[in-house]
Amino acid sequence: MGEGNSFHRTLLLPSIERLLALKSGERVLDVACGNGQLSRWMSERGARVVGIDLSERLIEIARAKSSPGGEKIDYRVVDASDASALRQLGPTSYDAIVCNMALMDMPAIDPLAESVPSLLKPGGRFIFSALHPCFNTGDARKVASESEEGGNLRETVGVEVTRYLTARKVLGLAMVGQPAPQPYFERPLHALLEPFLRSALVLDALEEPAFPKDATPSDQPWYSWSRFAEIPPALVVRMIPRGTT
Ligand SMILES: C[S@@+](CC[C@H](N)C(=O)[O-])C[C@H]1O[C@@H](n2cnc3c(N)ncnc32)[C@H](O)[C@@H]1O
Repeated sequence: MGEGNSFHRTLLLPSIERLLALKSGERVLDVACGNGQLSRWMSERGARVVGIDLSERLIEIARAKSSPGGEKIDYRVVDASDASALRQLGPTSYDAIVCNMALMDMPAIDPLAESVPSLLKPGGRFIFSALHPCFNTGDARKVASESEEGGNLRETVGVEVTRYLTARKVLGLAMVGQPAPQPYFERPLHALLEPFLRSALVLDALEEPAFPKDATPSDQPWYSWSRFAEIPPALVVRMIPRGTT
């Protein structure tokens, strides 16, 4: 994922910005930070960021992308499915925890869900984004149709869903040209939220961003998500500890 990637920039970032409502000086934990694109974005807005990722190589890349003398981000190699490693990042240290496009890459999300409340400062929030569990899975098939209506040609696109309720691991395509198939851990919405709800977090805000209508560059194929203005390919969620106002 890169800063120039329209899925990140056009689709996710506006929702993340609204739900995160970052204030300068806040301390933020970026879980599964990858190459650090969101960490840098938050740091440029005055946040003090700790970025963690399972991949040593991606943490190296994230460090290398930090501008010399620029933003100071504390990058660490940490497995977000290791509750004791997560505990060492706290306690009650963060105004916000973010996890951008990574829960579906993790076979186990319970340890993260269990750790979030103790890592947050009172009044803190947890924001995550994920591929939409209904519409953007290995099974969901994009379909296009053409018909005549009142003497006019009508072209529509949609998504055909034939399975949803059973969580599963599936090999998929994260990026054209990827060196190996990408394992995804698909969970229906209730299974995605349940570990966090069980951990005394409550759903505080949810957005289902889609690409804006008529903003599609003409070189995009019919199955590009940018042509599906009525179908959200991702969701962005804010959760807060129960009892927080
Ligand atoms: C699609 S990338 C998203 C990266 C980043 N959040 C961004 O917005 O660009 C998913 C990331 O999750 C990381 N990841 C997967 N499992 C993880 C785990 N158990 N602990 C920490 N990071 C993990 C991967 O290494 C990868 O960097």
